Amino acid sequence: MINELVRRTRTVRRFQEARKLDQTMLRELLDLARLGGSARNAQALKYMAVMDDALREQLFPLLGWAGYLPEWPGPEPGERPPAYVVCLLDTVLQKGPATEAHFDLGVATQSLLLGAAERGVFGCRIGAFSAAVVQRLLQLDGRYTVLLVLALGYPAETVVLEDIGTDGDVRYWHDDQGVHHVPKRLLDEILIDPPEVV
Ligand SMILES: Cc1cc2nc3c(=O)[nH]c(=O)nc-3n(C[C@H](O)[C@H](O)[C@H](O)COP(=O)(O)O)c2cc1C
Repeated sequence: MINELVRRTRTVRRFQEARKLDQTMLRELLDLARLGGSARNAQALKYMAVMDDALREQLFPLLGWAGYLPEWPGPEPGERPPAYVVCLLDTVLQKGPATEAHFDLGVATQSLLLGAAERGVFGCRIGAFSAAVVQRLLQLDGRYTVLLVLALGYPAETVVLEDIGTDGDVRYWHDDQGVHHVPKRLLDEILIDPPEVV
């Protein structure tokens, strides 16, 4: 059910690198991204799937992993993502401001990640990179802006949700067993009462 699926759709940063993603399945996931809501229905997002070993190796060091875990250098060889989906803004198709494409991107990647989780595949959205450097590596011309890199694969770590502590600390953390904990704000904390209008 959607409730369970949304809770299970967590960010994963360690993967079974040797377990490749099926190309047909990846296409199905990208098709889910295609069908999401889009401001002005511009549908200006495009996607480049990167599964080639040599290209993955060059892309990996350009990406920033888990900023709240500065002592963790990111996934080691063997647990790096077997696939990436590079999310691009096609500026020729873009109709409104880039912020609109970012809304579209949230919708599209969440659909993709929900579909992935249903298939046992998880991912990490990565926004920490130099767009110009990734653009050069992928030999993209100025028509495209790199908005986000989505790392994907079968998980090699356990992730648990927990209620945020009273100190309000939103930082995720690793325990002694390597389990990744993600604090979430409580429902009552994010609900704001509307004004009483007379
Ligand atoms: C727009 C966006 C950008 C993100 N960028 C990064 C990133 O650069 N590196 C990283 O390790 N995680 C990144 N994340 C993952 C978040 O850290 C993660 O969503 C957050 O810790 C909550 O975990 P959850 O996705 O399991 O709820 C990003 C997430 C979003 C939505």
